[in-house]
Amino acid sequence: MPVKASKTLDRVLVLEMVRVTEAAAIAACGMVGRGDEKAADAAAVEAMRHAFNELEFDGTVVIGEGERDEAPMLYIGEKVGKGTGPKIDIALDPLEGTTITAKAGPNALAVLAIAEEGCLLNAPDVYMNKIAIGPGYPKNLVSLTRTPTENVHALAKAKGVAPNEIIACVLDRPRHEDLIAELRAIGCGVMLIPDGDVAGVIAVSDPDTTIDIYMGSGGAPEGVLAAAALACVGGQFEGRLLFRNDDERARASKWGVTDLDRIYQLQDLVRGDAIFAATGVTDGSLLQGVKRRGDKMTTESVVMRASSGTVRWVKGEHRRGIVG
Ligand code: FBP
Repeated sequence: MPVKASKTLDRVLVLEMVRVTEAAAIAACGMVGRGDEKAADAAAVEAMRHAFNELEFDGTVVIGEGERDEAPMLYIGEKVGKGTGPKIDIALDPLEGTTITAKAGPNALAVLAIAEEGCLLNAPDVYMNKIAIGPGYPKNLVSLTRTPTENVHALAKAKGVAPNEIIACVLDRPRHEDLIAELRAIGCGVMLIPDGDVAGVIAVSDPDTTIDIYMGSGGAPEGVLAAAALACVGGQFEGRLLFRNDDERARASKWGVTDLDRIYQLQDLVRGDAIFAATGVTDGSLLQGVKRRGDKMTTESVVMRASSGTVRWVKGEHRRGIVG
């Protein structure tokens, strides 16, 4: 069903969001390869917050850097913007891929999504089991209720190829050993990524990446961010929160999650119109990273809107790191 354009998400905000992710990416790029995850994250957080606070809107962080007592800035519930103008909820990750940045690896992003008040899931900071495929397939073709083998077979059939021509993207983690073994046993190619599952999920929507399906668990906040991108470009996504202990269950109930086993469909995570923006920090499947060229810095960003489906690729050239 087409998504109605929101009057709250003024079109001007589309490009403003790019300024915000550019600022965070430029701030983080000075920390690429420096082995200091915390400093890289802190630089991006501060720059993103500063950029938000220049904007004429009344923003509330619903997915952020953590809870108020654990994050000094961009914590969940923090108000950003000048406080005038439209009321907007924000999901953000100023530096998605702190370890990647510290090690100068691929696919680190500065990323955010905005929607009307109450339209983004307040996902607790726990793991989420995720499955995603690109656009153009029958509805509910894959699901967390089915086995990885069943999902790959269904996808292969719909694509008109053999299961051994399907490529799955999975985070390289010991917890995914069984999943990886099952996929390889049916001949499916497995692309293991070290970190950065926002880019990993979005990759299913871009045939150039050759990734057909994303599977496995990663952060729930990252799940909402990736779902926002798929809400704009098309594709299917399901997520189920995973709890390792009572503390995580309690955290979920604090954010209003009552059914702990619920499978969230894309439209449960992101409702109505939404804008997704990202700027590359390091080179990756989605975007090139920030580059220094003499006294200039170049950035590559993408911004998309759910109601129109418009995707804009924005190349920025910035003097001495100034994002104007
Ligand atoms: P950070 O930017 O917080 O380091 O997250 C990177 C990331 O790889 C996410 O993309 C992913 O969702 C999550 O970490 C996976 O968590 P874990 O490293 O605990 O497996």
